[in-house]
Amino acid sequence: MDKLEELRVKYLGRKSELTDVLRALGKIDPKERPMIGQASNLAKRVIEEAIADRVEFLQRKQEDVALEKEVFDVSLPPRGEKTGHIHPITRVITDLEEYYSRMGYMIYDTDNLTNEYDNFDAVNIPDNHPARGMWDTFWVKGETKNKGKLLLSTHTSCVQNKILTENVPPFKSMAFGRCFRHEATDSTHEHTLYQNEGLVVDKNLSVGHLKTVLMDMMQFIVGERVEVRLRPSYFPFVEPGFEVDAQCVKCHGKGCKTCQRAGWIEMLGAGMIHQSVFVEAGYKRNQWTGFAFGVGIERLAMLRYGINDIRYLYAGDKSFVEQF
Ligand code: FA5
Repeated sequence: MDKLEELRVKYLGRKSELTDVLRALGKIDPKERPMIGQASNLAKRVIEEAIADRVEFLQRKQEDVALEKEVFDVSLPPRGEKTGHIHPITRVITDLEEYYSRMGYMIYDTDNLTNEYDNFDAVNIPDNHPARGMWDTFWVKGETKNKGKLLLSTHTSCVQNKILTENVPPFKSMAFGRCFRHEATDSTHEHTLYQNEGLVVDKNLSVGHLKTVLMDMMQFIVGERVEVRLRPSYFPFVEPGFEVDAQCVKCHGKGCKTCQRAGWIEMLGAGMIHQSVFVEAGYKRNQWTGFAFGVGIERLAMLRYGINDIRYLYAGDKSFVEQF
């Protein structure tokens, strides 16, 4: 190809003999001009065509050489491009967000960094109340202006006061957020967990309403009717208060690896909103009824997917996440 370019410059370039002839046409005898003009233009065309032919030939040759070198084996198995997977916790949260918003619930997020007032005082756990010990709190250096010390939110109930003060009943709300607890991990406990907090306020609400809402939600998450068991329990912000277990969907109560032979898995704390919580948010005592519940998202994911150890969810193991 380089040689060809040299030839083109030599015979057709600005300094070539042929160009000299063409340039001189104006000066020669007009009688000879047509003959010399035609002949030199013909010569130019013939050379141009010869070069173009040769260029095409050489290009094809180059392609043939390249194709011969390049091996393309169509019988090889494909490399298997990897696509990302949505984490089971993200799946449960987005499904629940859609589920509750379709039913007219307002959706809130809770803050990771909160304060003593919102996390404790506003939900009927004043300073020195023994129930503060129920949550192994990560305290953070620093203090707010009027809401006490800083801490990492220990439960999504820290958003109850904000929701109660921002809204006029009747209303339904759902909050999602991360919680942090200074506790040893085991197959059902993590130090960092997700909760979702339901808070519903209206006239004449009862434990029956609460139980129906919880059973419907679990049926939606698991895809079949789930038996639910309410055990009396104590939380300062509800009266009466319950811990709620779901019957294990793997063994239907018989006991298996997923439920650690118990037949039931603890899912949440719940109860009827304590009137003191209403009063703290500026409501008149005994004007409204309400129920609240705080569900562990990891526990829901475990129930839904039959995961028997919560730590799998946070191990960052790709082969685990790829199953979902
Ligand atoms: C609470 O956090 C209450 N705020 C719940 C509540 C809300 C009660 C509204 C009444 C009214 P508890 O500490 O039991 O309660 O946690 C609630 C749920 O979060 C548990 O049932 C469990 O599903 C989940 N959970 C709690 N601690 C952990 C943990 N360390 N690891 C994984 N999940 C947890």
